[in-house]
Amino acid sequence: MQDHSDYTVSIRYDRRLYLQDIAGSKAHAAMLAKQGIIEKEDADAIIDGLSAVQGEIERGDFPWDPALEDLHMNIERRLTDLIGPAGARLHTGRSRNDQIALDMRLYTRGAIDETVAGLRSVQRALVGLAERHVDVLMPGYTHLQRAQPVLFAHHMLAYFEMLERDVGRFADCAARMDVLPLGSGALAGVPYPTDRNAVASALEFSAISPNSMDAVADRDFLAEFHSAAAIAMMHISRLSEEIVIWSSREFDFVQLSDEFTTGSSIMPQKRNPDFAEIARGKTGRVYGSLMGILTVLKGLPLTYNRDLQEDKEGFFDTVDTLRSTLSVFADMLPGMRLNTDRLESLAGESYMLATDMADYLVGKGVPFRDAHGVMRRLCQHCEADGLSLSDLPIAEYRRFAPQFDEDVYAITASASVAARDNPGGTAPNRVAEGIARANQILLAAEAP
Ligand code: ARG
Repeated sequence: MQDHSDYTVSIRYDRRLYLQDIAGSKAHAAMLAKQGIIEKEDADAIIDGLSAVQGEIERGDFPWDPALEDLHMNIERRLTDLIGPAGARLHTGRSRNDQIALDMRLYTRGAIDETVAGLRSVQRALVGLAERHVDVLMPGYTHLQRAQPVLFAHHMLAYFEMLERDVGRFADCAARMDVLPLGSGALAGVPYPTDRNAVASALEFSAISPNSMDAVADRDFLAEFHSAAAIAMMHISRLSEEIVIWSSREFDFVQLSDEFTTGSSIMPQKRNPDFAEIARGKTGRVYGSLMGILTVLKGLPLTYNRDLQEDKEGFFDTVDTLRSTLSVFADMLPGMRLNTDRLESLAGESYMLATDMADYLVGKGVPFRDAHGVMRRLCQHCEADGLSLSDLPIAEYRRFAPQFDEDVYAITASASVAARDNPGGTAPNRVAEGIARANQILLAAEAP
């Protein structure tokens, strides 16, 4: 028979939790001494010993032993080797079940802070693009059909809003998981006079978990983190899709800087938007890990089950994917150059103004539904004859509706955009408000 002992070993990936594990153990040891559960000298030796262990891990000379299975057993064994019998008192009133529940929460808390900082840096890049191109008109789309002119800045701020909701989702996750599980023991609590609130404040948790069985079984915070991550990556993926389309020769709206494109190995003319494509692809992986954690959890009876060890690799992968993807976008977006002439000439293309012309007829007393019909017939007529609305003589316009006058030629893309001056609209003053609002949010986020 083959040796299967490796199957249950987790140190290859759970060693990433060493800082959290050591911080939790120090707080636990200090509390045990304060409560008179272990001697003060033992707690001091444990705390110093754990610092020595941390140093070894960071220098890369910690003797990781797969036979000890996980990081908790590795650290505890090494501690005892270093400081003697005092090390064996650390695990008093604790189980690996509440220990790992704590480590994962501490790690998730840090991952949320880091992810929010990453989202903020992408938001800053989006606002920067909006500010630098504040006057640029472009065609806005529905159904990927040219619909109405909009400001490019308005389009960028739409993504700012998406990422703002992502920040909110990660903050909600952080607020809900702000509960110390340590002190729950294996599942039923511990028979020592511990002070859970002291450990909670030492580790900066706002509260302690109210039910020991739930505390060791709960990984909801990971499911929440994964779903917030999946939604954030979905937003990045939509932006990636636009960048891929925009940088095609067919659209030719933007050019990415050389660092973020790659040449084809056989077609010398190509500059592929690989970073955007890979981000779009990595989104699938992040979705997969969300499904992974939900599926790991769905069949588990209370309380701790070893299946929970499978919560880690997908989670770390998602944390790393968010980190690298958000960093790429924060650096890639500022270098994206706009083909302003093309954007503006397409924005001014006369069919894009058909809605404005219908609104113009409404202004002259025509009911909107009838005005819509007039413009539909006019557009069909122009299309059939290969004409542009702006070249059509006024006499032709009047064949479709007598209300048309010379002032119909004053309808331009700029006029169309300026007219959409209601809250949330694309008029330049509304977009300026949007930029100011975005900057306020970013400034408030920087405040300590
Ligand atoms: N390596 C385990 C995990 O990640 C730690 C807890 C193990 N507990 C136990 N009773 N075997 O979930």
